[in-house]
Amino acid sequence: MSDVPDQYGVVGHPVAHSWSPFIHGMFAKETRQSITYRLYDILPDDFRARVLAFFAAGGRGLNITLPHKIAAVQVANELTPRAARARAVNTLAAQAGGHLLGDNTDGAGLVNDLCHNLGVVITHRRILMIGAGGAARGALVPLLSLEPAELVIANRTAERARALAQDFQDLGAVSGVSFRELAASPFDLIINATSASLSGEVPDVPAGVIGHESVCYDMAYGKSDTAFIRWAVGLKCGSALQGWGMLVEQAAESFRVWRGIRPPTAPVLTALKEHAARL
Ligand code: ATR
Repeated sequence: MSDVPDQYGVVGHPVAHSWSPFIHGMFAKETRQSITYRLYDILPDDFRARVLAFFAAGGRGLNITLPHKIAAVQVANELTPRAARARAVNTLAAQAGGHLLGDNTDGAGLVNDLCHNLGVVITHRRILMIGAGGAARGALVPLLSLEPAELVIANRTAERARALAQDFQDLGAVSGVSFRELAASPFDLIINATSASLSGEVPDVPAGVIGHESVCYDMAYGKSDTAFIRWAVGLKCGSALQGWGMLVEQAAESFRVWRGIRPPTAPVLTALKEHAARL
């Protein structure tokens, strides 16, 4: 066996803020895997050539983050079913014969955090997904596979919500509506999959969707509470959670795809939150 560590990394633009080297570094220590994990800041025009060069030089796997997740679909030779449905790739893995497998672990990361870390039940519950972009699309396969009573997608641009729901009709009770069309009755789980938190905004959904037992989950995360979390807490929701766990869980799922080992996530999540709080 060679002593040279297997090479991994994350490709994005910008990417300097990424927590992935911290997370995968801890996973590697916990599981005693010999790997390196680097940041690659690559412009969209250079994406394909640089990624292919990374693998041609013996690289074993890449995480793909904004703005490249859709472009990465074209670089993969083969897609997992969940990546094909998401139409986005966040994980590339070198396969035998020089082939590249494209996977999407974001949705599995969300569902693992909700179900395993936070004890949220999805089966037979009413779920509201706010947003109809790539982040929402990526979560639909794992959420619908747990058979919620209904999954309502609400989006500022209603046509996008309707089109997304239409694409996933075969997988369960999913519908798409505008914010205004949302009935003001509480949902069991409300997921904010919009990018509104990044600009400190809250999607303009009626307050009545939140009840005293509703679990509110923001895919976004930050050192302090996001605007959505503050809004949900102000409405006395049951609980309100940021997406730190989703971040760690999607990474663990990528690590499993690459190394065949699922690392423990709890110590990494604790260390990550402590580290972020000190910044
Ligand atoms: P991503 O890949 O992160 O999902 P995207 O495809 O650009 O990014 O989608 C962003 C999502 O956030 C969309 O659902 C967008 O709503 P529109 O389709 O109407 O544009 C939503 N979004 C962004 N800012 C928002 C805001 N201030 N209020 C409500 N929704 C917002």
